[in-house]
Amino acid sequence: MSAVAVKKREAEKAKRMLKHEGIYDGKRRPRVEGDFVLLPVLDVKRALELGFEIRDVELPMRPERQIYKNLESVLKEKLTEEELTFLRRYDVVGDIAIIQIPPELESKKDLIVEGLLKVHPFLKVIARRGFHRGTFRVREYEVIWGDERLTTIHRENGIKLKIDLSRVFFNPRMKGERYRLANLVRNGEKILIPFAGILPYALVIARYKNVDITAVELNKDAVKLGLENIEMNRKHLKGRIELIVGDAFEVLPELGTYDRVISPTPRGVDALKLVLSKADKFLHYYDFIHESRIEEFKNYIINECNNYGKTCDVRIKRVSDFKPHVYKICADISIRKS
Ligand SMILES: C[S@@+](CC[C@H](N)C(=O)[O-])C[C@H]1O[C@@H](n2cnc3c(N)ncnc32)[C@H](O)[C@@H]1O
Repeated sequence: MSAVAVKKREAEKAKRMLKHEGIYDGKRRPRVEGDFVLLPVLDVKRALELGFEIRDVELPMRPERQIYKNLESVLKEKLTEEELTFLRRYDVVGDIAIIQIPPELESKKDLIVEGLLKVHPFLKVIARRGFHRGTFRVREYEVIWGDERLTTIHRENGIKLKIDLSRVFFNPRMKGERYRLANLVRNGEKILIPFAGILPYALVIARYKNVDITAVELNKDAVKLGLENIEMNRKHLKGRIELIVGDAFEVLPELGTYDRVISPTPRGVDALKLVLSKADKFLHYYDFIHESRIEEFKNYIINECNNYGKTCDVRIKRVSDFKPHVYKICADISIRKS
C-alpha cells in the first residue's frame, strides 16, 4: 500500500491537492513519522507525476461510520410499522431524550434505547414520559437509561435554558411558536407574561428585541431557574426581564397595562378576563380547544373584548395536536379601542 511523504508544515496543502486530483484515500488514516506526514493515496503513478515522494506503508482503515437520521430508519427492521408509529413523537431536551413507551412495546425497551443512542450519540439520559400534574404542570418521568438526573441545559432560538424536568414545566415543541412571537414583537414594547415558567418566551423575545418584559410565575423552582437563565443569557439579551414571584390572579390586578400580553395559560385555567384587562394592543392567549368549538371560542373572546369596551380582531392559530380533535391553540388578538 502506498502513501506520499510530505513535511508536516506542507501536509494540509498536499492533502488538498491530492483531494483535488481525486487520489486521496479517505478510507485510511494518515500517520506522522518524525518530521513527515504519510498521506494515503489511491493512484501512485499520478502522485509521482505531481512530484510527491512515495513510501510503501500499511496505513490502517478508518472505522466504518454510519449516520442514522431518525429512530424509524434505525428500528425499521426490528419493529413493525404500527410499533414505529408509537415512537415517532419523542423529544430531546438538552442531553435528555423523553419518550413514551406503551406497555405493548415494553419488551422492546432495550432496542429503543439502543436506537435512540445511535440517532443522538450525545444523550446522557433517556426518560419515559408520564403525565403533567398539578398547578405547576410538572410531568412525571422515569429514567430508563443513563444518569439518574432530569436536569440539563437546553439550547433553542439562540438562548440557553437550565431546566429541571422533575420540578418545572418545559415543552421543547413550542420552539417555533416562541420564535413566531419574537418576530411579531416590536422594539420598545412593554410586555407582560404571566405563567412564565423558566422564562423560555421571555428570553427568546428579549434575545432579539429591545423590550421591557414583566414575567409572573408561582412555582418557586421555576423562578429560581428563571433567574439563573436570565444571568446565563444576559450578555446576549437586547431586552430586559423583571420576574415577579406570585399568583398571577393576585399579582396582575396590582400591575398597570402593557402593549402586549402573552399568556401560556396552564391547561384547565380560564385567565382570559384577567389577561385581557392588562392588554392595550395585543394579546396572545393559549388554550386547548376541541375543533368543533373553535368558532364559539373566537366569539367568546370577541364578546369579552366588548365587555371591556374594546374592539378586537381575533385569529385562532392551531399550534399543536393535543389529542384527537383537540388542539393547543393560540388566539392572536389585536385590540382596537372602541
Ligand atoms: C403551561 S406552563 C407554561 C410555562 C412557560 N411559559 C413555558 O412555556 O415553558 C404554566 C406555568 O404557569 C405556572 N402557574 C400556574 N398557575 C399559576 C398562577 N396562578 N400564577 C402564576 N403562575 C402559575 C406554572 O407553574 C407553570 O410554570
